[in-house]
Amino acid sequence: MKQQIVPTQTEIKFQHDELIVSKTDLTGRITYANKVFMRVCDFSEEELLGQPHNIIRHPDMPRGVFWGVWNTIKQGQEFFGMVKNLTAHGDYYWVLANIRPDFRGGKSVGYFSVRRSPSRKLIESIIPVYKEMLSFEQGKGKDAAQLSWQRLEKQLASQGTTYEQYILNLVESTKER
Ligand SMILES: Cc1cc2nc3c(=O)[nH]c(=O)nc-3n(C[C@H](O)[C@H](O)[C@H](O)COP(=O)(O)O)c2cc1C
Repeated sequence: MKQQIVPTQTEIKFQHDELIVSKTDLTGRITYANKVFMRVCDFSEEELLGQPHNIIRHPDMPRGVFWGVWNTIKQGQEFFGMVKNLTAHGDYYWVLANIRPDFRGGKSVGYFSVRRSPSRKLIESIIPVYKEMLSFEQGKGKDAAQLSWQRLEKQLASQGTTYEQYILNLVESTKER
């Protein structure tokens, strides 16, 4: 059973040239974690392998984002997005994640994710978007995640853009030069 971790307000940082990598099976259970991942989230390999990836899920993350992740990768596409994660001790760290199917011989055998450290500006730009999604999701019941993601896509469509264009533009425009 997943232990209840109490979130703190302490942010954990990692270097801009480091990558946090993990792989999962088709159900999202962790099958590989690199050293940077283990150091930053403070879970051992033993504690991570075989666990669902939501072991590091932070309560500040809107459910809609994960609906978007799974909807995208199940269609064989890659997902880019900002994720706030929880460490074993309740601290948090932000990542800019790329999550994609792991193809072997043309067949998806699982998924993997490579994450880097986002700029401060990128973190600050996404916080209000996620806060808004989280508050929309309150009291929406079992369809909250899907409704929340589709609402975000609709808002972006009304601005003439797609989620992918939006996030890639945001990454570009918030780069520290
Ligand atoms: C390859 C891969 C990497 C993932 N990485 C994360 C992650 O870093 N943090 C996270 O909270 N969820 C991650 N997820 C999504 C989780 O599987 C899960 O959907 C999410 O934590 C929400 O959990 P919940 O539906 O139990 O609320 C990842 C999924 C995949 C397939």
